[in-house]
Amino acid sequence: MAESAQTWKNSEQVSIKVDPERILSPIDDRTYSGFLEHMGRCIYGGIVDFENVKPGLTNEKGYRLDVAKALKDLNMPVVRYPGGNFVSSYHWQDAIGPKENRPRRPELAWLGEESNLFGTDEFIEWCEFMNVEPYLCLNMGTGTLDEALAWVEYCNSSKNTYYANLRRNNGHEKPYNVKYWSLGNEVWGDWQVGQLSSTDYSKKAFQWAKALKLLDPSIRLIACGCTGFDNWDYDVTQALVSKIDLYSIHLYTSHAEYYKNVTGPAAAERAIQISAKLLDLAKITQKAYDKDIKICFDEWNVWDPIRADGSKGAEEKYHLGDALAVAAWSNVFIRQAHHIGMANIAQCVNVIAPIMTNKDGLYLQTIYFPFLLFAKYMRGHSINLHVSGPRYEGETNNVQCDLGWVKHSEPILNYIDVSAAIYEGHVNIAIINRDLEKDHEVNIRLEGDYKDTSLTYTVYHDDVNAVNNFENPNNVGITEGTVPTSDLAAFKVLKHSFVLVRVPIA
Ligand code: AHR
Repeated sequence: MAESAQTWKNSEQVSIKVDPERILSPIDDRTYSGFLEHMGRCIYGGIVDFENVKPGLTNEKGYRLDVAKALKDLNMPVVRYPGGNFVSSYHWQDAIGPKENRPRRPELAWLGEESNLFGTDEFIEWCEFMNVEPYLCLNMGTGTLDEALAWVEYCNSSKNTYYANLRRNNGHEKPYNVKYWSLGNEVWGDWQVGQLSSTDYSKKAFQWAKALKLLDPSIRLIACGCTGFDNWDYDVTQALVSKIDLYSIHLYTSHAEYYKNVTGPAAAERAIQISAKLLDLAKITQKAYDKDIKICFDEWNVWDPIRADGSKGAEEKYHLGDALAVAAWSNVFIRQAHHIGMANIAQCVNVIAPIMTNKDGLYLQTIYFPFLLFAKYMRGHSINLHVSGPRYEGETNNVQCDLGWVKHSEPILNYIDVSAAIYEGHVNIAIINRDLEKDHEVNIRLEGDYKDTSLTYTVYHDDVNAVNNFENPNNVGITEGTVPTSDLAAFKVLKHSFVLVRVPIA
């Protein structure tokens, strides 16, 4: 007993014990959702290219077909739109109706100009084309409750009323039935047009929620949380628990130093746990016992906003280390699946994104590959596991906000970071070796009976700073392999690599 407690603390030998009978939670498919903002080249030049409509590259509407294919492979169930910070000075009615009448506006979040050529109707059409569900974020900066109500009516009403008829006049007879609506974006941030204190936001959001649900009780309202570990989160969960369906939090991690970068996502694990507990507490104190409010982590990724400035388009170039950080983020979502109702990688294309385009084509960034593997295989149910091995004892930090506290938090920083799921007749184990110097031999122990051959999908390069680009698009990718299931007892995981093992159940 004493010996195993010691092993748990810190040991050179890595062991992963997976017990597929101990199901932790269903994994919500919406964990693999995305986000599109009118920012940089995300919309124009990203998902659409109205100036470069040509067969092979776009369809007749200007949708980029290569981007659509790369996104479809990620199988995103929901896409959030139109921002982000952008939404806080966005008037949706500027971007409907005949395109020649749409006003071109100054854009205050990223200090650009917005043509409004892509708006609500185009977004919904694109969602139908992509077979994804739309999620709209309301303007709680310069926007009014009247405008928000009008937007919900325009999208969802089948009645004989003004905005429902406006939609019909614009050629869309059937309501769009947009289910997900969020009450503002990062309203707490001093960069936000219309920043509010938590008290003022809570009062305003409470009244908006009441009115929006009177208009359409079927919508799912998402409150604007902060990081999940901020006093804002306490105040807003207390104030809004009875009115909301999901609770949004945001976090971006990144650091130039490798270990700080790849361990940063541990903060997201604590963010989820803390905000889930704050929601529990609010349910008790506000007597909202029957509410089941999950976390909507609707902006997450690796992003250094100094390296990739938002007002310059935030075109991050992701190396292998960043891909390992994205895998670590994804492991967090699987381990915390019980609390996750949705998560949206920010963003989908060109802007802090897995996909990069130019006028003629695209390439897939390193972070695309772990996301793809998770989206394909880490579904179904999250299962219990126990990992022992060397602990990372160094600093964890971040460019955007102080994460120095993470190392004093729960003992979750193993060099070998793991999650597991049971899905489509396989036990799927996602393993990151964050050790920069050493390959590790991992003793994977599985309860139950399995077929003889397991499948492996590895993301690795000798150089942890390796990137993909237009000149060398396949520098980092996925290597597929097989391994005798019996050899998983001594399974080599390369230094600074990610491997997903699929073990077929007998
Ligand atoms: O995704 C980029 C920006 O990051 C979003 O506009 C904002 O919500 C966050 O600060």
